Amino acid sequence: MQEKIIIFDTTLRDGEQSPGISLDAAEKLEIAEQLARLNVDYIEAGFPVASQGDFEAVAAIARSVQGPTIAALSRTHLSDVDRCWEALRDADKARIHVFISTSPSHMEHMLKMSPSQVLAETKAGVSRAREHTADVEFSPQDATRTPYDFMLEVLQCAVDAGATTLNIPDTVGYGIPWEFGDLIANISKEIHGEYIISTHCHNDLGLATANSLAGVQNGARQVEVCINGLGERAGNAALEEVVMALTIRSDIFANATTQIKTEELARTSRLVSRLTGYPVQYNKSVVGRNAFAHESGIHQHGVLSNRSTYEIIAAESVGQTASQIVLGKHSGRHAFSDTVAKMGLTIQGDALNAAFQRFKDLADRKVEITEADIEAIVTEEVGVHEDSFFQLDNLAVSGSSTDLATATVTVTSQHQSVTTTATGNGMLDAAAQALSEATKLEARLTSLSITALTGGVDAVGTAVVQLESSTGLKVSGRAISTDVVEAAAKAYLDGLNRLVRMRTRLEQRDVSITP
Ligand code: KIV
Ligand code: ZN
Repeated sequence: MQEKIIIFDTTLRDGEQSPGISLDAAEKLEIAEQLARLNVDYIEAGFPVASQGDFEAVAAIARSVQGPTIAALSRTHLSDVDRCWEALRDADKARIHVFISTSPSHMEHMLKMSPSQVLAETKAGVSRAREHTADVEFSPQDATRTPYDFMLEVLQCAVDAGATTLNIPDTVGYGIPWEFGDLIANISKEIHGEYIISTHCHNDLGLATANSLAGVQNGARQVEVCINGLGERAGNAALEEVVMALTIRSDIFANATTQIKTEELARTSRLVSRLTGYPVQYNKSVVGRNAFAHESGIHQHGVLSNRSTYEIIAAESVGQTASQIVLGKHSGRHAFSDTVAKMGLTIQGDALNAAFQRFKDLADRKVEITEADIEAIVTEEVGVHEDSFFQLDNLAVSGSSTDLATATVTVTSQHQSVTTTATGNGMLDAAAQALSEATKLEARLTSLSITALTGGVDAVGTAVVQLESSTGLKVSGRAISTDVVEAAAKAYLDGLNRLVRMRTRLEQRDVSITP
């Protein structure tokens, strides 16, 4: 008898809480569509009460994404639960995820509530959620630092009030696998009723995947995970790691199975990386670009004779195959949109037109266009907002890339064009100075990475920048181009646009309630 492990993806909720990530509704929708193709069981789409933007993104996903159950997070306040349901109500299948902190530190310093008040809140919040849907998850936040007996009391109260999933968050990544495993085993012995146990492990000690697997080994039947291990601070357990560990070591996780379409893992990882601006470590397990690369002669010899000598995962099984050449200069609009659709990407209307135009421009500079190029163009267009505050109309740089250089930029904002010229230490510095002057926004460039998506000197490069504003706000920006300076300058402007968006969003958002 195979036992299904429910994959609850929280990239769009906990993952989006990673510092510097701010996804808008279109970007969230694109990721949600891809998570549906990956075949996750649950998509936690957001925290509707946090802001109007969060509410609308959850509602848009609930309305249109088919397949997975759509979940959203809520505090125990009755008005929050109702608002959460309002965002979810159009989903085919919906779950309300109610949480409250239970550790002494959180109860004293954040909630300012006594244990009995927390119990009363749990009962009220979960009962209210059950009035809306039969699928209710409850989380005692900071469970691993909560006194055991009190945690059991809260969990039993949640089940009695109607919770059908008990999620055990290791909120601060404090757990050690065997200890966390014992905790899960003991909860399932002590709590009476019909419920599923779930894990939610943070990675502060680098143990999130190990702890989640220990949970499964001890009876958990749901794991909460994020693509690329995104999430608060050091992140959450990475979906791709947990799923592949369960798949490859089915000898240990006897009978545990997931319904994930593992061939979609690499593409999902790339999409999330591009839209969040969080690069994937080269040697990241499963989805890193070097996860199947072999350097030493002995290894190469072994792999050439038989891949199983040094590989435990078949690269194709996780979608890590070489890019196919799919289109060229003479390919027309029909071939382009056909290829995009076959690749499972969703882009329509103006964004499709813009993506096709970019494809044509690229085809003028590059003979062969691969799947990776198309994926980059399309995901880039998903993030192009008609309401982007600043648009780059022109960029001209001259001089040396290491010495004094000059850049002239023309930026349009709200129908007004501004042209500025600046000098800098190298072309990128000059372009960044000119953009800062044109936008009157100052932000420190804290990191820049340029990655070639394909080989050759005409490769399309993705530039990702991290910026920090004078008030300490961190954002990332990204852009693609076959020209490195252009990619970096556009990424810088994308970062400035995100800074404007994030400021507006933070003004609307009640940050004090973010879990
Ligand atoms: O880490 C945590 O405790 C959470 C809860 C809201 C589940 O993200
Ligand atoms: Zn969390």
